[in-house]
Amino acid sequence: MTEFAYRDGVLCAEDVPLPRIADAVGTPFYCYSEARLAARYLSFANAFRGQPALICFALKANSNLAVVHALARLGAGADVVSEGELRQALAAGVPPERIVFSGVGKTEAEIEHALGAGILQINVESTAEIADVARVAARMGTRAPVALRINPDVAADTHAKIATGKSENKFGIDLDHAREAYGFAAGLRALDVQGLAMHIGSQILSLDPFRVAFGKLALLAADLKAAGLPVKRLDLGGGLGIAYDGEQPPEPAGYAALVAETLGALGCEIVLEPGRYLVGEAGLLITRVVRLKDGITHRFAIVDAAMNDLARPALYGAYHRITPVKEPRPSAPLAPVEVVGPVCETADTFARDRKLPPLEAGDLLAIHQAGAYGAVMASTYNARLLVPEVMVKDGRFAVIRPRPSYDDLLGRDRLPDWEAERDAARRVREA
Ligand code: LLP
Repeated sequence: MTEFAYRDGVLCAEDVPLPRIADAVGTPFYCYSEARLAARYLSFANAFRGQPALICFALKANSNLAVVHALARLGAGADVVSEGELRQALAAGVPPERIVFSGVGKTEAEIEHALGAGILQINVESTAEIADVARVAARMGTRAPVALRINPDVAADTHAKIATGKSENKFGIDLDHAREAYGFAAGLRALDVQGLAMHIGSQILSLDPFRVAFGKLALLAADLKAAGLPVKRLDLGGGLGIAYDGEQPPEPAGYAALVAETLGALGCEIVLEPGRYLVGEAGLLITRVVRLKDGITHRFAIVDAAMNDLARPALYGAYHRITPVKEPRPSAPLAPVEVVGPVCETADTFARDRKLPPLEAGDLLAIHQAGAYGAVMASTYNARLLVPEVMVKDGRFAVIRPRPSYDDLLGRDRLPDWEAERDAARRVREA
């Protein structure tokens, strides 16, 4: 990947040395490469060029306005899962007719908002939701375009917390109930049934589970068509994995060929919802070593980023490559170090026993593959400020989400009236 490479001994994002951004915005910060984003989108889109496919970027992976805008400019649609994400997609310039709305728990207010915006389709995940969407649409005097998300009962061979396609998961309508549910939805005047949807999980590193799931979807779609029900569109979800630690994920070309092979004969429009594939590799989290600490058994590099900034290692035990921003000498010895943040729990560990060249306080480190499920999952735990985001393009960089101030942080909370009244009364007494 040439967008993040050492030049003259310093890690750069495209043409910008990362220490220059660190001096300007402070650490920690997320840094995205626009060229990398575009390259990933185009490689995915090109793989599907011969098929009637709409690529709907899953905003949950990274919903920064500038990121979504960059993808929308290239033609991407959006997969959203909340009113907030729907508003973000529209604000970033994604046309409503390229937006699909997924998720098991859409509220009536969210359904109403989506129908008002005129999006492509709502993916409904239960019979109860079919009825809810129909009721809202009828009340609004409109017809709701819906697809039924089915649960194909396929093991995605990924982390249990991000697998979604087994029947014990909360997602989708079980295959056994799918025909009945589809018939029910197709019979409701307030619904305009578009087709089927599925999503079996995330960070999937083999085409096999996709092959099984697409096969089941193809059978169901053919059955429904044979019964005279309309199946215009198939939404295949996201899930294509990326290499965090030398894994060999399937290439988009193979994935697209599988889609054509298993589903092409049905003649349906195809929707894809990639998230991680498009943005994961396009982002780094840059952090500074605060100090080093030698324990009895381990050496700790305590950095200024923490689990609240990038939750994946703490939450899923996820591996992220870490490299020094200053290029190490080729002969530099490697020694195991624990890369930890300042948050008061042991889960706040980015890497265990990681072989790194000698580090000093003040050194910058890059945590790689942080463009997906990084900033979006950040919190203010331990009263830490939300981490800022920076976009790089050619030789320029722009802050695309500034670091909030401590006033912003403190200003979020309010005292209840009775406390404020007591404080005021005390001030009067003491005056
Ligand atoms: N569509 C639906 C309905 C989804 O639930 C997801 C992800 C996607 C698309 C996008 O999947 P992708 O292409 O990014 O694999 N926070 C976790 C990942 C959670 C994924 C949830 N659903 C992580 O950091 O690994």
